[in-house]
Amino acid sequence: MKVLVTGGLGYIGSHTVVELYNNGDEVIIIDNLSNSKEEVLDKLETIVGKKIKFYKGDLCDKELVRNIFKENKIDSVIHFAGFKCVPESVQLPLKYYRNNLDTTITLLEVMDEFNVRKIVFSSSATVYGTPEILPLTENCVVGGTTNPYGTTKYFIERIMEDLYISNNNWDITLLRYFNPVGAHKSGLIGENPNGIPNNLMPYVFKVASGELECLNITGNDYDTVDGTGVRDYIHVVDLAYGHVLALKNNKHDEVKIYNLGTGKGTSVLEIVNMFEKVNNITINKRFAPRRIGDIATCYADTKKAKEELGFETKYTLEDMCRDGYNYVLKNK
Ligand code: WQD
Repeated sequence: MKVLVTGGLGYIGSHTVVELYNNGDEVIIIDNLSNSKEEVLDKLETIVGKKIKFYKGDLCDKELVRNIFKENKIDSVIHFAGFKCVPESVQLPLKYYRNNLDTTITLLEVMDEFNVRKIVFSSSATVYGTPEILPLTENCVVGGTTNPYGTTKYFIERIMEDLYISNNNWDITLLRYFNPVGAHKSGLIGENPNGIPNNLMPYVFKVASGELECLNITGNDYDTVDGTGVRDYIHVVDLAYGHVLALKNNKHDEVKIYNLGTGKGTSVLEIVNMFEKVNNITINKRFAPRRIGDIATCYADTKKAKEELGFETKYTLEDMCRDGYNYVLKNK
């Protein structure tokens, strides 16, 4: 299958490109490099052993998107491209609504023009807002989002559901990610954001490598096993393979929605202790006040993805801690 991957040079996008090639698919990437580097393309071509067609540009550029569909017989699309920094979205909501919605609507309009109607969308567990029950199932209430980034994900889910209602020929899958961590075993691709990371594990990696001085554990008074926040950490390679399985599922008698997580909750202290054990490093850490908007506990019910996609995670928390840091060390 020929798959257009938007944001294909990004963290999850790049790992998904590898899994698509492992599955025998051919990939075309569009990426505007707003949160990725063009050198990732060379790394991907090294891993997959093939040249990969890459269009540097923005999904808001409708003529560019039309040209991509004119020049390539695209069978399906996986849509990752979008801004994803939660604190920035709170500071700059219009930037997030403009970008994440405009890019998506432009993509869908061009897909419609070229009668390409199979799309997998990179959604997020943030659409659940503060969980009312745990583990979270796909039937849980959505829309109680607590930041503009999460709200754009919710709005895009609604846009796609309304599109399906208007034309049942659309084959739409929404994948709700929990907390992706780790990297490809080669250490050639991974996540190492510039500056001060918002997310836990990239921050831990920077403290371990000496780039940052101390990890602030934001909140140790939650009603959890040890007072620190509990999340469902999933290896990015498992997450990427979930997209391959989603593309294989051709039924489209509804909009398909799946949680992609491990089904297990892990606290901050538990994953930091695991990181220290796996990498034989002691992390300089201190407890700090809760982050505004943070929730205590969030983890997935994974039954539906297992039953309908055959999705099962293979990698462990140890793998996530080892592989993620391996990438950082190889790309210092
Ligand atoms: C995890 C835990 C923090 C940083 C984010 C995005 C969400 C989604 C998943 C894309 C929490 C604690 C964190 C730090 C800490 N991404 N923490 N010190 O908040 O679950 O969700 O990733 O869809 O959009 O918001 O992940 O890694 O930021 O936090 O103690 O320096 O680590 O309080 O308990 P989160 P996170």
